[in-house]
Amino acid sequence: MNHFLEISQLNQHAIEALIARAFEFKYQHVFPHYAKHPVAHLFYENSTRTRVSFEMAANHLAMPVINLDLNHSSESKGETIEDTLHNLAAMGIHHFVIRHQQNGLQQMLANQCDESIRIINAGDGSHAHPSQALLDMMTILEHKTHLSSLKIAVLGNISHSRVANSFQAISKIMGVGELTLVSPAIWQPKTLYYGWVTEDIREGLSDADVIICLRVQRERLAEDTQIDLETYRHDYALTSKSLAFAKKDAVVLHPGPMNRGIEIDSDVADGPQSLILKQVTNGVFARMAILDSLIADR
Ligand code: CP
Repeated sequence: MNHFLEISQLNQHAIEALIARAFEFKYQHVFPHYAKHPVAHLFYENSTRTRVSFEMAANHLAMPVINLDLNHSSESKGETIEDTLHNLAAMGIHHFVIRHQQNGLQQMLANQCDESIRIINAGDGSHAHPSQALLDMMTILEHKTHLSSLKIAVLGNISHSRVANSFQAISKIMGVGELTLVSPAIWQPKTLYYGWVTEDIREGLSDADVIICLRVQRERLAEDTQIDLETYRHDYALTSKSLAFAKKDAVVLHPGPMNRGIEIDSDVADGPQSLILKQVTNGVFARMAILDSLIADR
């Protein structure tokens, strides 16, 4: 693996190997030392989980972390991101964890940059969030067996969601039995990679083994599709009532950050079926596996 850009670059074997390595890190706590492999974090969009999780992952692997302060970097003087990367590479930094609002930016950088550089996509616009999909799948596999017989429902703002895109990709490759995308018509995706779409929350969640509740990305709605949040909440919130459409032992995931009282109620988010904080824990190990694979494959 030269870069970690999107799930579709991986096959089933590669995904299983990354998840197995993440579980090894989680349960055996034997970590390689990569002190000679510094990693720079460039977050052009806000982040709590992904940024800190990659930083924790790098710390566990003894990788020096450079958090580039983009408000005070020379990009504010007109330097291109490509020049920034090449200058950091000239100082000996070859791994770059990048989040950016522009779809495909990391892929474009991977195509253009010197071949010593490794790009890790920490989320690009509404396109892809591959490390999130990996940690989501790891968390599901920790609690459920036989993916081919599972029904997984993704609930919410599908068309703006890089989480939903990457989860469709990983579900297709890993052979999830049934993937249902539940969304009001205005937020349904134009392109479907896997699964089927419904507007009907009862139909979508019915007999589900896993529900992934998505954040209402209010910052992206300003650009195009507005919806009345009270109406959305009434029709699509994950509450104890709508959770009851799913199987009794269904588990609940959410990528965070949560809008409590909008897309999810606190009694569900903090309830016995919630794996939300377990996702966050697993995220560190999943990201360790990604960094480990990029270094080990050099
Ligand atoms: N899930 C996720 O990407 O969260 P952050 O935006 O806090 O990184």
